Amino acid sequence: MFFPDYRSRRLRKNEGFRRLIRETRLSVDNLVLPLFVRSGKDTKKPIGSMPGHFQLSIDHLIREVQMTKDAGIPAVLLFGIPDRKDEAASGAFARDGIIQQALRRIKDKTPDMLVFTDVCLCEYTSHGHCGIIEKGEVDNDATLEVLAETAVSHARAGADMVAPSAMMDGQVGAIREALDEAGYETIPIMAYSAKYASCFYGPFREAAEGAPQFGDRKAYQMDPANADEAIREITLDVEEGADIIMVKPALAYLDVIRRAREEFDLPIAAYNVSGEFAMIKAAAKLGWLDGGKAMMEILTSIKRAGADIIITYFAQEAAKILQGG
Ligand code: PBG
Repeated sequence: MFFPDYRSRRLRKNEGFRRLIRETRLSVDNLVLPLFVRSGKDTKKPIGSMPGHFQLSIDHLIREVQMTKDAGIPAVLLFGIPDRKDEAASGAFARDGIIQQALRRIKDKTPDMLVFTDVCLCEYTSHGHCGIIEKGEVDNDATLEVLAETAVSHARAGADMVAPSAMMDGQVGAIREALDEAGYETIPIMAYSAKYASCFYGPFREAAEGAPQFGDRKAYQMDPANADEAIREITLDVEEGADIIMVKPALAYLDVIRRAREEFDLPIAAYNVSGEFAMIKAAAKLGWLDGGKAMMEILTSIKRAGADIIITYFAQEAAKILQGG
């Protein structure tokens, strides 16, 4: 088996051989595009640190969803920017909230496109934390009720799947129970199970206007140094009824994706977050990296690590390459 009998380069010598033995194939089927929706008409507000991405009013959002569908991408993940924020996050579950309105309009125009929603409070609270504040701290159990109500309101407005990202203990179970009680037992939950307190969410917080006004999220999001804990978090979400488990961010956590793949048999999603997108765009703009190649290499790595679903701001660009366009 050893050199010179075995020469690895024999099967690398041309593209034909490389194609034959390629282990990982990224497909447009694996991609989900996050989109940001705000109120207004004919508004398309650029997000500075995420070139090519915008806060879209619903009319533009509908066009974007249609384009995403035409690109062969099976799903979008919606984030809302409400007009008003308050302590109670009431915009998160309002019947005429921005996400609820957007869902109804999308489902009317493109009913066969999958629409997923982020279920969290940080975009809707005046203080920018992911939950309800009691005595200066995010109160876990008070937040659960609001998250559950938000998830039900999304299902009622037409969401195909809800994705709780607040990192409250028991959130998956609370949402599952509320959905079932409201008659939405067929709506699945994609749980942000291992979500780290990461600096790579920086550009997103500009995009969604959801930065915490005091402190940080370390009291609920995970410590980047921990991987065994990710397994505990995922185990809890599976027990509480998660249908898909997620690791977030993706690139700095490929080992966590791999361990999740080995230890669980549920579908795994990985969130290739805003900072991972922004750093490739920035380097490409400076001429320091080939942005398209970096994108494909990173998305392939996330799949190779074990992700079935990749949530990425690159979805449309990657789809063009994958569809040979
Ligand atoms: C909401 C939420 C965040 C992201 C997804 N859902 C921000 C955060 O937790 O601070 C980040 C997504 C990204 O960076 O692309 N809690």
